[in-house]
Amino acid sequence: MGKRKRASQQTVDTALLPQKKHYRQRAHANPFSDHSLQYPSAPHAVDWSVHYPAFAGTGRAPAFADVGCGFGGLLISLAPIFPDTLMLGMEIRVQVSQYVQDRIAALRVSSQSDTEVSDSGPSPFQNVSIVRANAMKFLPNYFGKHSLCALFFLFPDPHFKSRKHKARIISPTLLAEYAYVLRLGGIVYTITDVQDLHDWMKTHLTAFPLFEPVDEETLRSEGKGPIIDAVYTSTEEGKKVERNGGQKWLACFRRVGVQ
Ligand SMILES: C[S@@+](CC[C@H](N)C(=O)[O-])C[C@H]1O[C@@H](n2cnc3c(N)ncnc32)[C@H](O)[C@@H]1O
Repeated sequence: MGKRKRASQQTVDTALLPQKKHYRQRAHANPFSDHSLQYPSAPHAVDWSVHYPAFAGTGRAPAFADVGCGFGGLLISLAPIFPDTLMLGMEIRVQVSQYVQDRIAALRVSSQSDTEVSDSGPSPFQNVSIVRANAMKFLPNYFGKHSLCALFFLFPDPHFKSRKHKARIISPTLLAEYAYVLRLGGIVYTITDVQDLHDWMKTHLTAFPLFEPVDEETLRSEGKGPIIDAVYTSTEEGKKVERNGGQKWLACFRRVGVQ
């Protein structure tokens, strides 16, 4: 049997990686403007083999979705931990989503050449991809009913002013869509450094009948510790919070009720 370097042992040729300074963009994009994006008419219209060529023909679709994935830190961190799980980031900002696309492409090439001998399964980072999309408007165009087992909202834009709360990615109207795409037992992970936003997300998710709060210890006891660790530490925004000595509030919810 061939030998494969473990993901944790892999080195990445940093010369291949894109540099953020070439992908500068405004900090916020208006989720209500028309971004003139092309969307699939329905999940079955998405050709996932374009995103995950190494999984072509398997009939697989994404099971993890990172909504507002920013620069992609969570996806890159989880990819080697769950090599058989397809993950998709959704990001509205053009330059930022392009950066993630280029980052994944570079990691695929770099780790492929770094892998000693391929034995079974695709080489690393084949299981992550990104779409430039407005998740507030088009999430169900990408994900079928009950297709996801994890939905991530990590350090979402806080939209501080009351008149802007309708732009928050967790809102009473959108929760029905999140419940629709999550399978029974699936988890919504939220984290923020803004206490007011944490309270807001917790209040709305707790009030929604198809979600039930689940604490960190329970999730860790179910083997989801590596996911929780990545939620806390892997994203660019989470790292910034750490550098600034900020606090992080985690809140997770399980999809309950009827399928
Ligand atoms: C504060 S950043 C956090 C990024 C990342 N999750 C992290 O922790 O580093 C929020 C991101 O969500 C994106 N975003 C905001 N609204 C969105 C929407 N409706 N659809 C997709 N992405 C969105 C923003 O462009 C931004 O990159």
